[in-house]
Amino acid sequence: MDVIDLLIQQHRDVEALFEAYRAAPDDERPELCVRLAEALTLHSTIEERWVYPLARSVIHGPRIDFAVEEHGEMTQLISELLHVRWEQRRREATVRQLEAVAAHHLAEEERDVYPRLRKMEASAFGLSSTELDRSASDARREALRQLAVSAPPP
Ligand SMILES: [Fe+2]
Ligand SMILES: [Fe+2]
Repeated sequence: MDVIDLLIQQHRDVEALFEAYRAAPDDERPELCVRLAEALTLHSTIEERWVYPLARSVIHGPRIDFAVEEHGEMTQLISELLHVRWEQRRREATVRQLEAVAAHHLAEEERDVYPRLRKMEASAFGLSSTELDRSASDARREALRQLAVSAPPP
């Protein structure tokens, strides 16, 4: 599996979590919000650290700046979602917004960004997908620290 395959797999995982959310009973949804937050935050962290810097060398113009802005928008919605996940109405509204932004963002990357990176040598990434996997556990720890998931209300 190369780096791009790993990223696409993470996109599918995020989509599967949104589907699981829709299928889940109400009392399981707050926990799924946390899993969605983790999956999306980890993926964005990996892209911003290892993928976008490289993408900027082959994709000129504002495309990557837009992608970073969308990450910012998702980060904002994710932190909102973690705060409201115990309040049904606000949680549902925030999940809908987050899913719309994420669906658009993931589709654009797969259409415009990833195909152009696939043409590059694997070594251009500076690390293999195995090394990326390993580095990603550091990124995961950092992402989780940033999220600082709050406890449910008593
Ligand atoms: Fe992204
Ligand atoms: Fe992505």
